Amino acid sequence: MHRIELLAKSHDRDEFDCGNEPLNLFLKRTARQHAERGISRTFVLADDDAAAPKPILGFFSLNICQIKSEMLAPGEAKKLPRDVSGVRLGRLAAAKARQRQGIGKALLVAAMGKFSEIFNTAGGIGLFVDAKDQDAKLYYEQFGFVSMPSNDFQLFLPAKTIHEALVAFDQ
Ligand SMILES: CC(C)(COP(=O)(O)OP(=O)(O)OC[C@H]1O[C@@H](n2cnc3c(N)ncnc32)[C@H](O)[C@@H]1OP(=O)(O)O)[C@@H](O)C(=O)NCCC(=O)NCCS
Repeated sequence: MHRIELLAKSHDRDEFDCGNEPLNLFLKRTARQHAERGISRTFVLADDDAAAPKPILGFFSLNICQIKSEMLAPGEAKKLPRDVSGVRLGRLAAAKARQRQGIGKALLVAAMGKFSEIFNTAGGIGLFVDAKDQDAKLYYEQFGFVSMPSNDFQLFLPAKTIHEALVAFDQ
């Protein structure tokens, strides 16, 4: 059975290829160090029953972020203090051989679930992501992410949209 797991030594980082070398290298060389230092956390989709090293089907990374509410659309910014916190989806990738099979969507829903846990513990206004190109931007928009007024490629998914999506996805 496929499960979302915190990246661990038992996962086969070396064989992962999403077609984007910086993302591959982050998983191979940086993700575990970042987790140890509290910089970010990386979660993988892996086969629970596979023997170690377990193949990785995809991964995402999250970190806490601070933003100025004036960066948001006026409708979102009103009633918020000047400095607010959220969760940044730093990276998202599916294995090349398994793309367009719903893995990216499963990872995004899992990231929303992690956001919801943080929201329930410490708050947070939503998920933020930097889209690396127009394709990535379109990908995020179909899940309800909206561009920030200051930069089209910085996108925001409000907590309310996340809660509604999780109900719709029955998470
Ligand atoms: C972007 C990425 C995570 C998407 O994951 P995926 O598992 O391939 O996507 P899904 O199967 O969840 O896609 C669901 C739907 O999203 C859309 N979609 C998929 N890839 C897309 C893309 N690159 N651009 C726009 N829309 C896309 C399609 O409508 C797709 O449905 P369809 O296959 O029925 O047409 C994956 O392609 C990837 O890892 N790419 C390389 C790394 C990358 O670009 N990461 C984003 C960093 S900003």
